[in-house]
Amino acid sequence: MLDKIIKDIKDAKTLTHENITALLDSPDETLWAQVFERADDIRKKNFGDAVHLRGLLEFSNYCKRNCLYCGLRKDNKTQYRYRMPPDEIVENAVQIASFGIKTIVLQSGEDPYYTTDIICNILRDIKKNADTAITLSIGEKTRDEYKAFFDAGADRYLIRHETASPSLYASLHPDSTLKERLNCIDDLFSIGFQVGIGCMVGLPGQTHSDMAADILLLQEKQPDMIGMGPFICNQDTPLQGALSGTIEQTLKMTALARIVCPRSHLPATTATGSIDRFGREKALAVGANVVMPNFTPLNYRMHYTIYPNKRCITEDGYKCNTCIRKMIENEGRTVATGYGHSLRFESSTGQTS
Ligand code: 5AD
Ligand code: SF4
Ligand code: FES
Repeated sequence: MLDKIIKDIKDAKTLTHENITALLDSPDETLWAQVFERADDIRKKNFGDAVHLRGLLEFSNYCKRNCLYCGLRKDNKTQYRYRMPPDEIVENAVQIASFGIKTIVLQSGEDPYYTTDIICNILRDIKKNADTAITLSIGEKTRDEYKAFFDAGADRYLIRHETASPSLYASLHPDSTLKERLNCIDDLFSIGFQVGIGCMVGLPGQTHSDMAADILLLQEKQPDMIGMGPFICNQDTPLQGALSGTIEQTLKMTALARIVCPRSHLPATTATGSIDRFGREKALAVGANVVMPNFTPLNYRMHYTIYPNKRCITEDGYKCNTCIRKMIENEGRTVATGYGHSLRFESSTGQTS
């Protein structure tokens, strides 16, 4: 059966839930080496060797939600909280763009302080003063709010589905359901955003069948971007003491994501780089084509502690910029110079630089 699955992958056949689960159940390293090689080929065919940089600005760590796994959850009273004033957000974004970064990712917890008007003004001010694409990652909002962000200049929106298992989702999110999350995702697509979804790997209680459901959801939605990283246990959350996801699991899921979504932008995430010193390099070798240098000012950055031992927490933004560029070159890859829009929105020649 496994040989047949590998053949299906090579023939670019649609994968079934049963097949993905069987693959994930297999510890066979030669089999996985073939999966990794296939994922790397698909990345190369669709994106070439260019790696896109997305400059991350974590502008507020307030959050009104209580996701069980996350250090920014509202009930984590040990967490020091900060908010960057709108002017400072714009000023930083303009500076990030001056480093040749063509996408700025504005990320925060779900923080009601930033009203729709405030966010829209920030978006317009950045667009007026910098030549850059903007990705928002600020959580669940109404369709009207999403539409306002889009009209004010946001190009893309990241909202991970976190896990495609309705029961696991419900057990980790006291304030929401998977259905609500999927509705947000549908709203974002229908408005015209480039949309990013994705999940954590190795969540407590997550089975191979659950992980197969994540891959199937990616296959079905064909998102423009994918965000996938290991769950990392945070001692200041109700999941304290749980096992974290492993680099092996994460690389398998990254490769499968690339295989079912040949044309999605797929980052080597910070969490992947945080559980393994060379995690990002390893992810770049099994399908990833994006990295996200952190440009959050240092005095704030050390407080954006979703999980512990986060990479680059004491590094200056400009240091990450240089470091990441070097890392990409060391891997024999090049740094892309364009906006790195979704291939859906690029010319039909597949020109992505
Ligand atoms: N480990 C790994 N990733 C986490 N996230 C939140 N908490 C953790 C954790 N403990 C991820 C979620 C969220 C993104 C911003 O960070 O997937 O969508
Ligand atoms: Fe808030 Fe996002 Fe953390 Fe959930 S994962 S608590 S929504 S910052
Ligand atoms: Fe931050 Fe290397 S990417 S120091």
